[in-house]
Amino acid sequence: MEGPGLGAGGPLLILGLETSCDETAAALLDGGEIVSNVVASQADLHARFGGVVPEVASRRHLELVVPVIREALGERSLDDLDAIAVTQGPGLIGALLVGLSAAKALAWGRGLPLIPVNHLHGHVASLYLEPDPLEPPFLCLLASGGHTLLVDVPNHGAFGVLGTTLDDAAGEAFDKGARLLGLGYPGGAEIDRLAREGDPEAFDFPVARVPGLDFSFSGVKTALLYAVRDLGGDLEARQADLAASYQRAIVQALVRRTREAAERTGAERIAVVGGVAANSELRAALPEAKAPPLALCTDNAAMIASAARYAEAIAPPGYLALDAYASAL
Ligand code: KG4
Ligand code: ZN
Repeated sequence: MEGPGLGAGGPLLILGLETSCDETAAALLDGGEIVSNVVASQADLHARFGGVVPEVASRRHLELVVPVIREALGERSLDDLDAIAVTQGPGLIGALLVGLSAAKALAWGRGLPLIPVNHLHGHVASLYLEPDPLEPPFLCLLASGGHTLLVDVPNHGAFGVLGTTLDDAAGEAFDKGARLLGLGYPGGAEIDRLAREGDPEAFDFPVARVPGLDFSFSGVKTALLYAVRDLGGDLEARQADLAASYQRAIVQALVRRTREAAERTGAERIAVVGGVAANSELRAALPEAKAPPLALCTDNAAMIASAARYAEAIAPPGYLALDAYASAL
């Protein structure tokens, strides 16, 4: 993907919207600077189902989108904006459509340009924000609940995929593992916390080796399932050891592949983004990688507005026919 970039370099007030999964988010970006970054998480709503229920997410986005936009605008008004950016995909279609429709309506109402953003580009662009932006080219590990990719980033507006997961995403593996361990949803942060109290060598979970620069997390998940089954009633006593060993296997898989990709591509700079980039063991195990602040790792709209600075803006009424898309590649 490439884009000429409406505002790369110049100051520009952009309202960003993100509703691809279970966070309703709006942010205001002035140049590369975050004026506001509001995230209303629906995690509690979905927790009792053990994962995101698409229709429940769409309905909640509908309730939250206007108040979240109002909060992000703060003292500013829609008249102050230069453009509106919104996640077009990939994600849950019903959830995406709420943000996309809101963005179209607001932009059309004010005669503003609209900038559709690829959510994955958004995660990469979380690295372009002040106060310490990373300059391309670099190699980027993008690990979230929906995706696990190694991408080559030649410039601010583009990325090329070097490897991807063959089954579960890393965040999904964390979430499913957490469920097996009887922890809450979303599970990544819970496993991260519990793992600090456990022994990462207590269980020998497999680190998958698949060809090329791809990933696979289904084996480690099954290994955890069997370990939990074998323990029967003793699960609670070993919960922290299981969490630590499971996290170690996932982190090792991510770290090894990222370093292999860096070697193959000769990348001088490495970065890690997405919800799993918030993981403390991953951040410690890849000290050479630049990672965004924790609040910009998980889904947010500041990263969407950031990507929009390097993507193509569409003048009214050209964007009214835009549709959301569910799949990444
Ligand atoms: O980027 P994100 O907010 O949403 C997607 O685009 O998918 O990522 C959410 C994922 C969830 O699977 C969550 O469990 C995981 O990121 N996550 C973590 C941590 N915090 C969030 N995984 C491991 N350790 C964490 N500290
Ligand atoms: Zn995401």
